[in-house]
Amino acid sequence: MSRIITIACCLLVLTANAQKDKNLQPKPALMRLIDGNLRQAVNQYKVLMGKVPTGRLPKTWYANADRLETSNADWWTSGFYPGTLFQLYEFSHDTSLLAEAQRRLTLLEKEQYNKGTHDLGFMMYCSYGNGLRLLDSPRYKDILLTSARSLSTRFHPAVGCIKSWDSKPWHYPVIIDNMMNLELLFWATHVSGDSSFYKIAVTHANTTMRNHYRPDYSSFHVVDYDSVTGAIIAKKTAQGFADSSAWARGQSWGLYGYTMVYRSTHDQKYLDQARHIAHFLLTNPNLPADKIPYWDFNAPNIPYALRDASAAAVMASALIELSHYVQRDEARGYLDVAEKIIVNLSSNNYKAVVGSNGGFLLRHSVGHFPAHSEVDVPLTYADYYFVEAMLRYRELGQKGK
Ligand code: GLY
Repeated sequence: MSRIITIACCLLVLTANAQKDKNLQPKPALMRLIDGNLRQAVNQYKVLMGKVPTGRLPKTWYANADRLETSNADWWTSGFYPGTLFQLYEFSHDTSLLAEAQRRLTLLEKEQYNKGTHDLGFMMYCSYGNGLRLLDSPRYKDILLTSARSLSTRFHPAVGCIKSWDSKPWHYPVIIDNMMNLELLFWATHVSGDSSFYKIAVTHANTTMRNHYRPDYSSFHVVDYDSVTGAIIAKKTAQGFADSSAWARGQSWGLYGYTMVYRSTHDQKYLDQARHIAHFLLTNPNLPADKIPYWDFNAPNIPYALRDASAAAVMASALIELSHYVQRDEARGYLDVAEKIIVNLSSNNYKAVVGSNGGFLLRHSVGHFPAHSEVDVPLTYADYYFVEAMLRYRELGQKGK
């Protein structure tokens, strides 16, 4: 009798697990949509490839003048174009994308020695990091380790953070975006065994958790510190509507950042932080029904404020990862929102027809609203995280979720 009960219990557990897996499986219709999007993205990036001048990297495109804006390798967005090419090569195995990614990587190589920016994580890990993952090149690994050493020079123990900008009037500014650069440091400790990178990353994450976040788990954009004492001088915004507002992309960087820190440390407090941030975002009355955020959650003219597709893409990618670390119902909630974002970014309103939009995938992102710069345009990082979100979604089924 007890044997029958044991078998029945096992069957119940197995059935429950099967249901759990089924509930968190990717949806076939969305998988088809994503595969179609990625096939189009391959073609669209070939359009972009045809436009980017030798020695330059794309930033955005201005429809009114049909003008592609590009940058040098030392601009913070330089890694996204090669990174997107690597991701699309991973999907398509189209070697023309791989060749273009490798060509543009050579422009970034010297940035491994750049100690004047906190954005080396974005620049190098999104580019060389994807290259290393796909090609396993020892040279890429060396370049990334040198980059991690350069980034580490911007950390000062008195503050407990990596310094973001060297510009005035700031003293020792740290922006929430900087959470994204920690992934390079975690990787560096993982491959080198040198724990100093890890210690810098967790110290930065802890200081940011303490000082950037408000009681409702929204984040300030900039915290300015005294570089000698580490005291907080001011909490401000640069790219948001107001010092006290929740600039949308900053909230997405924080969500993605703490989810990644949890992946890298397995420390529960970072998972809790990511879940609190997700709660702030997903229950926010100013998050539209289609889940594409306004450029600032407190923008003055909501519901007429501009949307930021880049904030949505980063959020979708982060939510898919976060769904791996929580219980089934919570995971389903995160996936529901990520799915909605992917579907809505795939609509004609956001996703460009191949050949249009200067070769970029997504329309309607906001770079720096207060500076009137890159407002309601395509942006290279919106494309990068949109593609990453779609690839992460495709992998759901393979991870038993
Ligand atoms: N600083 C990066 C951004 O604009 O999100």
